[in-house]
Amino acid sequence: MTFPLIAPSMLASDFSRLGEEVRDVVAAGADWIHLDVMDGHFVPNITFGPDVIKALRRHTDKVFDVHLMIAPVEPYLEAFAKAGADIITVQAEATDHLDRCLQVIRGLGKKAGVALNPATPESVVAYVLDKVDLILPMTVNPGFGGQAFIGDVLPKVERLRAMIGNRPIHLEIDGGVNPETGARCVAAGADVLVAGSAVFKGGIEGYRANIAAIRSAGEQAGKKAA
Ligand code: DX5
Ligand code: ZN
Repeated sequence: MTFPLIAPSMLASDFSRLGEEVRDVVAAGADWIHLDVMDGHFVPNITFGPDVIKALRRHTDKVFDVHLMIAPVEPYLEAFAKAGADIITVQAEATDHLDRCLQVIRGLGKKAGVALNPATPESVVAYVLDKVDLILPMTVNPGFGGQAFIGDVLPKVERLRAMIGNRPIHLEIDGGVNPETGARCVAAGADVLVAGSAVFKGGIEGYRANIAAIRSAGEQAGKKAA
């Protein structure tokens, strides 16, 4: 497996051609497809729900990395599992019952993820480390693509990497990732980079080079850190 994994966020794609965009970004080298679900309540923006994810499922076999920015989240976990999500990530702030949420997701046969807003401390995952498959410290305040990377989160990434130890948990970064910021995240311990605007900029001819640039900057940083 190449390191880091690159997960383009479809939020930055052309929503009128979502299926084609998924196929194009997979052909351009995407490892996972990151799908941002927003409800206009937990975050001040609305995107799409399980039916759209279900429709996209037939376009690729790649991992569907579904990032739920919705509250409440519990009533919808089953629908996203049935729609074809492979990883279901909930925001720690969106539930009073994180442990239960993670158990429900795994019970549905899916990988369970937890996302942390920039101001949320890493301690929220301290007692669920054996129930989680992915931790996602957000490097923007969730809701919109194209925001500036919040570098203050990097010490949290380092602490999470130390907390994870040898456990098989992905440490994913989402928000403002480009080759330069992505490299800093990998140096801090991240192994999956979500990128929206940095992947989809410049039209379809650019996707392959955009993904390659993020991957190669990340690989360089990973080698240095090793
Ligand atoms: C933000 C979303 C991100 C977003 C990232 O709330 O969770 O996945 O698409 O977009 P960029 O890479 O443009 O910051
Ligand atoms: Zn996201």
